[in-house]
Amino acid sequence: MKIGLFDSGVGGISVLRKLVDFFPQFDYVYIADTANSPYGTKNDNLLFQLVKNILNFLDSKQVDIIVAACNTADSVVKQCLKENSDTLYVSIIDNVKRIVKSDRIGIVATENTIKSKVYEKTLGSSVVYRKSLQSLVTAIERNFANKELIKNIIKETLKGINEFNVKELILGCTHFPLVYDIFEKLLPGIKIVDPANGIIEYMKEKFGERRNGKNNLPKVEFYITGNPITFEENMKNFINLSSIKSSIRKVGFGGVESETGIHNLRAFRCR
Ligand code: DGL
Repeated sequence: MKIGLFDSGVGGISVLRKLVDFFPQFDYVYIADTANSPYGTKNDNLLFQLVKNILNFLDSKQVDIIVAACNTADSVVKQCLKENSDTLYVSIIDNVKRIVKSDRIGIVATENTIKSKVYEKTLGSSVVYRKSLQSLVTAIERNFANKELIKNIIKETLKGINEFNVKELILGCTHFPLVYDIFEKLLPGIKIVDPANGIIEYMKEKFGERRNGKNNLPKVEFYITGNPITFEENMKNFINLSSIKSSIRKVGFGGVESETGIHNLRAFRCR
């Protein structure tokens, strides 16, 4: 079984590292569109084209399942899904319903995800607080060593949150669980929710858990549209590379200008 994941950069590593931990028996293909990062500020048309390129690329790698490791892209993909494909598409946003319990939910995400109100559409009136934390994406991509900067961005942007009596705060951008501990420390009393856990719940239900079932290391092929060396350097902050058997390559389909090899977006079954 081959699983494809995609993100604009290292954010999706927060999903990948959970998947390889729970399902080491599968093979993985991870595409990071760093040449076009960040996704959170792109207009709808451009984002749709970028996501289409990625889905087609994963399709060409013959993956059996596509897992959204990017909330911003997921909210766009969801607009074009139909129920008639043999490739299963696992939405990160839809599966969050499995793991939130309270009636006072807060969301932090990219500009586009907040604007799309996709979490409100999924969770309804329990969403009482929402905030864009776009600058945190750039800080994690380019400045992860600067913990003070990261702390200050979170503290400054969320300074009014206590007035909303938020019980659970969803980290609605996959970059944010990479600094889960900082959120926890800065927001005592609020349960911090990583939506990747919803994906794991779904996958466990569908495939069963086989944590210790494989002696070989899980195989991960990384494809990067930008600089693979920069990506690898940063990725090492978030996943232990000796726990996977990885290869890393630059992929050349580029941005929207390159139509080579791009065919119409296939329809995927959404879960
Ligand atoms: N990690 C992504 C998400 O979950 C995208 C961040 C960005 O590129 O702006 O939304």
